[in-house]
Amino acid sequence: MSNWQELEHQYFMNTVQRVPVTLVRGQGARVWDEDGREYLDFVGGWAVDCLGHCHPALVKAITGQAQTLIQTSNQFYTIPQVRLAELLVQNSCLDKVFFCNSGAEATEGAVKLARRYGHLYLNGAYEVITATNSFHGRTLAMTAATGQAKFQQPYVPLPVGFVSVDFNNVEAIKSVATEKTCAVMLEVVQGEGGVNLPGNDYLAAVRRWCDQKGILLILDEIQTGIGRLGTLFAYEQYGIEPDIMTLAKGLAGGVPIGAILAKDKASVFVPGEHGSTFGGNPLTCAAGYATVKFVIDHNIAGNAGKVGQYFISGLEKLKQKFQFVTEVRGRGLLIAMEFSSDIAGTLVTACLDRGLLVNRVKPNALRFMPPLVIGNKEIDKALGILDKVLSSVVNNK
Ligand SMILES: Cc1ncc(COP(=O)(O)O)c(C=O)c1O
Repeated sequence: MSNWQELEHQYFMNTVQRVPVTLVRGQGARVWDEDGREYLDFVGGWAVDCLGHCHPALVKAITGQAQTLIQTSNQFYTIPQVRLAELLVQNSCLDKVFFCNSGAEATEGAVKLARRYGHLYLNGAYEVITATNSFHGRTLAMTAATGQAKFQQPYVPLPVGFVSVDFNNVEAIKSVATEKTCAVMLEVVQGEGGVNLPGNDYLAAVRRWCDQKGILLILDEIQTGIGRLGTLFAYEQYGIEPDIMTLAKGLAGGVPIGAILAKDKASVFVPGEHGSTFGGNPLTCAAGYATVKFVIDHNIAGNAGKVGQYFISGLEKLKQKFQFVTEVRGRGLLIAMEFSSDIAGTLVTACLDRGLLVNRVKPNALRFMPPLVIGNKEIDKALGILDKVLSSVVNNK
C-alpha cells in the first residue's frame, strides 16, 4: 500500500471501499497512477468525464475563467451563468434554470420546487413518488427519495413525503397516488440501481398519467444527461418531455455542478425561496458552457450512441462465450454486464491488474461509463481485457 493510501486511512472518514490505486494524472480515456502505470478508464469519474480527462476545450475554459473571475455571489449578474443557462434552454424542452453544486442538491431542489408547485396549485400536495432501485443522492431527503433500503436504514427516521414503487410499473404509481401527490420523480435509466432500462411505453404512460392528474414529472438526468445515452438528454429517446429535469455529473465535464431545469409553468420559485453560495459561479459555469458546447458542436452524443452499440455487440459476444454472463444491458455509454454469481468485485480487481478501470454496480454486475469521446479502438482494448479476465474466472473454477 502506498503512503497516500495509508494516510487516507489515517485522515479520511471511512465512507468508501476504494480500489487500491492512487491516480495522479489523466488524458482522454487514460489515467496514470503514482507509479506511472497506465489504465483505460471505463469509470470516467462515475459517469462524469464526458469529454475525457483534461480535454483542451475544458482546460482552456477553466484556465481563462480562473484568470478572470472565479466567485461572486448570486447577488450579482455574471456572464458565464447566463451563457450556460441559455445554452441549456436553447437545447432542451425546458425554459428556466437554477444552478447548484451536485446531483443531490439538484434533485433536492427539484423536490422543493415541486412542493412549492403543490402549495400553489395542488392544495398543498407535497408527496413525491419515486421508483425502487432508484438513486437520487445522499442528502437526508434524497436518501428518503432513493428507493433502496440499504441507503436508508442507517439514517432512520427519514424526512416524510416520499413513496417508492416498482420501476417499470405505471399501475404501481397510480395505486399509491393520493391527493397529497405533487410529483413523480424517475431516472430515465436507473444508473446506480444497476443500469435498469425503462420498458417500451413506461415513461410515456407515466407522462400521460401525470398530465391527467395535473401533477409534475421530474426526470433525474444526472447520470443519463449530456449525451451519455446517445442524445443530449435521454428523454428525447422516449417521446416525452419532463416538467422538471435535473443535471449534474457530465454537465461541466468534471467540475462540480448541478442544475434544475423547469418548464415555465413549474418554475415557481420567488426570490428568497431557494439559493446557493457557490451554485452557478463563474468558474463552474464557464466549464459547463465549454463542455456542453463541445458536446453539441461535435455531436458527442451521437458518438456515444454509435460506440455504445459497438461495445454492446462486443459484450454480447462475450456473453455467448461465457455462460456465467447472464445479461448485457444499456444504452449509449451506460452499460452493465450481469453474472450468475457475485463475482463483480473479483473482476474489478482482475481488470485493474490488466489496466482497465471498471465499476462494480452490484455484487453480481459491472457497469461501464467511459468518456463519451472514446472510439472503437479503446472499446476493442477493453473487450480484449474483459475476455482475458472472464477466461480467468473459468480457469479458476
Ligand atoms: C441519477 C442520480 N441522481 C443523483 C445522484 C447524486 O449525485 P451527486 O453524487 O452529485 O450528489 C446520482 C449520483 O450517482 C445519480 O446517479
